[in-house]
Amino acid sequence: MGQVLSCRPLVPGRSRSKTGKDVTESCSDLSRPQTPLEGLPVLKKAKGHYWYPSNGPKILDACGGAGVACLGHGRPDIIKAVNTQMKSATYASYAHFQTPPVQELSDWLIKSTGGEMQKVYVMSSGSEAMEAAVKLAVEYFRWQGQSERTNFIARHDSYHGTTIGALSVSGHHARRAPFSPLLSPTRFHHISPCNPYRQLPSSSSSTPDWPAYIAEKVAELEATFTTLGPQTVAAVVLEPVVGAALGCVPAVPGYLAAMKAVCERHGALLIFDEVMCGMGRTGWLHAWQGEGKEPAGVVPVPDLQAIAKGFAGGYQPASALLVGRKVAGAMERDGGGRVFTHGHTYQNHPVVAAAALVVQRAVEREGLLENVRVQGELLGRLLRERLGSHPNVGDIRGKGLFWGVEFVKDRVTKEPFEPGLGIAERVHKVAVGGFRVLVYHGQGCAGGGRGDHIMIMPAYTISERLVGEIVERVAGAVEEVFRRL
Ligand SMILES: Cc1ncc(COP(=O)(O)O)c(C=O)c1O
Repeated sequence: MGQVLSCRPLVPGRSRSKTGKDVTESCSDLSRPQTPLEGLPVLKKAKGHYWYPSNGPKILDACGGAGVACLGHGRPDIIKAVNTQMKSATYASYAHFQTPPVQELSDWLIKSTGGEMQKVYVMSSGSEAMEAAVKLAVEYFRWQGQSERTNFIARHDSYHGTTIGALSVSGHHARRAPFSPLLSPTRFHHISPCNPYRQLPSSSSSTPDWPAYIAEKVAELEATFTTLGPQTVAAVVLEPVVGAALGCVPAVPGYLAAMKAVCERHGALLIFDEVMCGMGRTGWLHAWQGEGKEPAGVVPVPDLQAIAKGFAGGYQPASALLVGRKVAGAMERDGGGRVFTHGHTYQNHPVVAAAALVVQRAVEREGLLENVRVQGELLGRLLRERLGSHPNVGDIRGKGLFWGVEFVKDRVTKEPFEPGLGIAERVHKVAVGGFRVLVYHGQGCAGGGRGDHIMIMPAYTISERLVGEIVERVAGAVEEVFRRL
């Protein structure tokens, strides 16, 4: 199996199966030809922490689908708020009207960043938000009279979206491969990720020399600026906690601030992709805010930030681009005449905004970020207790309710399994089939498309009891897969 970033179909085209039955193509394995959806269960309903397939017992949702369902499924209060908005306006064209939900949501988001972000574009997918971030970075520098700034530096083994610009930024082998002729290698450049498990030797006796590790990363970024010519770089693009591409790998404390300092030194922008790790998933509304909570932590505020997934928790397809002071200031300067040359038909959709607003208000009102931190700590501890010494578990890492388990053939050498064995997919299948728990599976965490991982990302409302149940079921599935191997 290749690098699976999503269990959901990415290409919802209809096709005919051999039996003549109409099936929808799925893309659960992105490095192999797409397989039909025939094998997937039909979903009858989803409620609370469970999926109810039309056949068989309910399935415990340990990953919110693709890390989306942060409040669980089918909450009447959210559905009611979405319906209420539908009754007043089902749609409004962003070029013609402002709408109360978009205004309120934008104000709320700006406030949530302590005013660091100053403008909001509401969209529908993470890819759209990242695509917009890339374009706005380029346009910002045009306004500044620096149109030569068109280079981007991102990282290997990263995923930032499926559209051409967002995919160009991504350093994701399997997803890029079929489209490589379209992905400009002269504009999008990749450096190594911050992935200590894969980059540092294992040592149970001493803590790694983090300042030295970060200094190496800084040197690599500096060298890339120098090679490209610092005045040609528009932005550095990072995912603060790497989600699907690496399996929940948090940045080493201090790394993001160090990367920001390099950007500032060279006048480039810093773009954070918080599509998966943002909106509370790490225990802080914005993942970068959590950095400030580390000892002597400096808060690495980005210039542009993409959010999605937990933004509206799946109650509507919602994403947003948040624009920081510097770029927003340039738009407002000289009478505010600068307009971002960009727009989607469904941008600033009032129903999308209403859903995001009510989801975020629920997270705030119910103190769910605290629950994410508390249950997240428990989840990490129980995963380590239960699976930490399994001979095929190489690493367990994460933050908040965002945990990854990486599988290896050999714990000492960290050698990954052959991709063709599809270890992560097997765990996923046994977890659903035998243990009735849904986890998110992927490949690529060892670099170059190798390495298997699963991700556990339950809803922010998860209880201690269900955290324990998730760990027991997941551990059962892992043990079963390796027993059979
Ligand atoms: C970090 C990250 N960025 C961008 C995207 C793209 O988002 P979408 O699939 O909503 O277009 C994803 C999707 O998984 C993601 O995980």
